[in-house]
Amino acid sequence: MVSINDLNASRKLDHIRIVLNENVEGPLTTWFEHVLIPHQAYPPSPSRVDITTTFLGRKISAPIMITGMTGGAPGTEKINASLAEAAEEIGIPMGVGSQRAALENPQLGYTFRVVRERAPSIPIVANIGAAEAAKARLEVLERAISMIEADALAIHLNAAQEAVQPEGSPDFTGLLERVEEISDRLGIPIMIKEVGNGLSAEVAALFRRKGIKYFDVAGAGGTNWVLIEKIRAGEAGDSLKENLAKHFIGWGIPTAASIIEVRSAAPDATIVGSGGIRDPTHVVKALALGANIAGFARPALIHVIRGDLKEYLNTFIKGISLAVSLAGFSSVNELRSKARVVIKGELLEWVRQRGLSCAACAHSI
Ligand SMILES: Cc1cc2nc3c(=O)[nH]c(=O)nc-3n(C[C@H](O)[C@H](O)[C@H](O)COP(=O)(O)O)c2cc1C
Repeated sequence: MVSINDLNASRKLDHIRIVLNENVEGPLTTWFEHVLIPHQAYPPSPSRVDITTTFLGRKISAPIMITGMTGGAPGTEKINASLAEAAEEIGIPMGVGSQRAALENPQLGYTFRVVRERAPSIPIVANIGAAEAAKARLEVLERAISMIEADALAIHLNAAQEAVQPEGSPDFTGLLERVEEISDRLGIPIMIKEVGNGLSAEVAALFRRKGIKYFDVAGAGGTNWVLIEKIRAGEAGDSLKENLAKHFIGWGIPTAASIIEVRSAAPDATIVGSGGIRDPTHVVKALALGANIAGFARPALIHVIRGDLKEYLNTFIKGISLAVSLAGFSSVNELRSKARVVIKGELLEWVRQRGLSCAACAHSI
């Protein structure tokens, strides 16, 4: 079992400590409360529901992934090992946290390599920040991939977080210009990923035009990285960043809206619907709105530290079968193609004013 006492000090470890000990979600919600799926009182038996699907060319046992969190500091290999063991046993994909530290200091590579060692058969997603990806030599990105024999490389766009982070660098200049070349030369897909402020249709369209076909929306309503950096800035006595962060803790695109945004701009993309996915009904709503799979981060970390991640995931996955069944579908793929949802309130307003297409919405809106 992983203990928080195994962890030494560093930015990565500050993040883990704050994510575990503080209330770092909200004030925005995901807007899944504005998505209603009609209940079907004569459903297919949940035990017959097929929730398997494919992701990054591999079959997975449920439409959910553990999104990138950690590695890169001594002690984090234990977290990554436990996440990977659970993901492998259950058969779901996982991402690692930013690999920048291990690229700069190869001695830290073991904190990431452990993931592929413990999880030989699942899709694994490598991770690097947009500022690094914009300028890193191709060989450096190849090292990130080979470190964990990754199936995709996530490039995270975390502009709001970087801007309020005491040591942050929100300058992503040049990424768009080189992403196509990187993508062609790496031989595995690139995934454009947010971290909790959501991807818009505009950003998805920019990257889709450059050939990118994988997006992780990481919308608002779950872990709030501006809030986390505000807490860190306060602890570090950086009152400028702390005060700046205060103004932006309510900034972002709620996850339900972000999924519709990205699907609207990239109809043929593979989309991870994430940011505040906290129960199986959120997964079903995310899929109905256009995500291929859903994903979450913070709950996986909390349950690794508690030592009950496998139980948590198994119950969660049973819940997905039940939710798909109660929505009247016998498979995830059927749900994705046939579900019609009712959207209301701020989400309906958002979709109308943004002029988004919402194939899943019950009637013309
Ligand atoms: C402790 C922790 C560390 C994270 N580190 C990274 C990271 O290095 N790179 C990244 O792309 N996202 C990172 N994330 C963001 C998550 O992948 C995810 O997009 C975000 O937390 C929203 O999902 P959630 O609400 O389910 O936590 C991290 C999340 C957590 C909880």
